[in-house]
Amino acid sequence: MPESSERGAFEVLATYQTSHDRKTVEWLNSADIQASFGLRRTVTEASHRSWVDANGDTLIWAIVDPTGRHVGNVLLKLTQRHRSGYFQIYIGEPIARGQGLGDRALSATLTKAFDELGLHRVWLHTLPDNVAAAALYRKHGFVFEGTERDALLWNGTFTSQHRWSILEHEWMARRGKEGAR
Ligand SMILES: CC(C)(COP(=O)(O)OP(=O)(O)OC[C@H]1O[C@@H](n2cnc3c(N)ncnc32)[C@H](O)[C@@H]1OP(=O)(O)O)[C@@H](O)C(=O)NCCC(=O)NCCS
Repeated sequence: MPESSERGAFEVLATYQTSHDRKTVEWLNSADIQASFGLRRTVTEASHRSWVDANGDTLIWAIVDPTGRHVGNVLLKLTQRHRSGYFQIYIGEPIARGQGLGDRALSATLTKAFDELGLHRVWLHTLPDNVAAAALYRKHGFVFEGTERDALLWNGTFTSQHRWSILEHEWMARRGKEGAR
């Protein structure tokens, strides 16, 4: 479904393909994306492709800018039994951040999740210092569920993480209000 804004209509999510692997691997090895997700290992194109092939329950879309350039990815790991999806996003190209692409990509993913996939719950984690991500999720109606205290042990140090979710009826209510404007 095309999206529109004052910056013009374009599809922000594209089908993820093998041709997207090269940039993806570059981002997954970058210091800022590793810090945002707590990644520690080095990713290669081969290890990434193995991961994609082994995780058929995870839907991946490439985030593209208005010129069609691949600038990031969105992932939605489905648990069909509970009609839930675990969301992850990164704009891998730092220069492409702060231009509304995260906004558009999250909106488009929630539309797919609730309208097309029939999910009931979309949930995610943020690290406590990720102010931008927390603001993005709050803006889109995610509810802060709480802090998982010392949930992660990284390099000998315990780190907490925050959990957020949005339910189908909450998203529908927000969409109804936006449609009425
Ligand atoms: C978090 C991220 C996805 C946001 O995407 P983006 O394209 O830069 O964000 P947008 O320009 O679409 O902004 C959308 C909203 O996000 C929030 N936001 C984005 N950048 C922000 C910043 N630097 N500080 C505070 N809030 C910010 C705001 O709520 C903003 O809405 P507003 O402009 O109306 O205030 C992006 O910064 C990113 O990929 N960061 C690195 C990876 C990451 O942290 N992923 C999330 C892990 S949980």
